[in-house]
Amino acid sequence: MLAVDDGSDLPYIAAMTKTEIYAQTAREIEAVLEGETNVVARMATVSCLLHQAFDDYFWTGFYVVDPEKSEELVVGPYQGTLGCLRIPFSRGVCGAAARTGEVQIVQDVHAFPGHIACDARSQSEIVVPVYAPDGKLFAVFDVDSTEVGSFDAADAEGLKTILDKVII
Ligand code: SME
Repeated sequence: MLAVDDGSDLPYIAAMTKTEIYAQTAREIEAVLEGETNVVARMATVSCLLHQAFDDYFWTGFYVVDPEKSEELVVGPYQGTLGCLRIPFSRGVCGAAARTGEVQIVQDVHAFPGHIACDARSQSEIVVPVYAPDGKLFAVFDVDSTEVGSFDAADAEGLKTILDKVII
């Protein structure tokens, strides 16, 4: 939210659009990560700043492709309540993103066959594949919301722009 002084006695609050919040958060992330090459530090910073930027982000973080087990994700840096530690590519929304390489937007997790409920409060979800510079899948980025239907194409675009630059 942005406080605007319009010259009247009472300032009004202009709501920023999601696209504006993603753009502002992207600038913050870029500034904080300038010169930082450690991948864990980079992922932790992205999780933290995105989680803080949106009120409806309930669980925000990475599941990394396990280099020691083919087709399995292991939890990485995140913000929120306790997440499942491991997710096979064959299961859940995260598994679907890893398997297909495509963004998954789930308006109602109860209607998604095979959804993994790490926390019963989660109602909708977006999962974005994260690639290394060599083009290989490195991780997926998962955001859960306590509201049904929180995510749309603006979230997919905003997140992809940020996540394209996280693994260097
Ligand atoms: N719901 C996810 C599992 C991860 S947690 O929500 C943190 C899924 O179905 O893949």
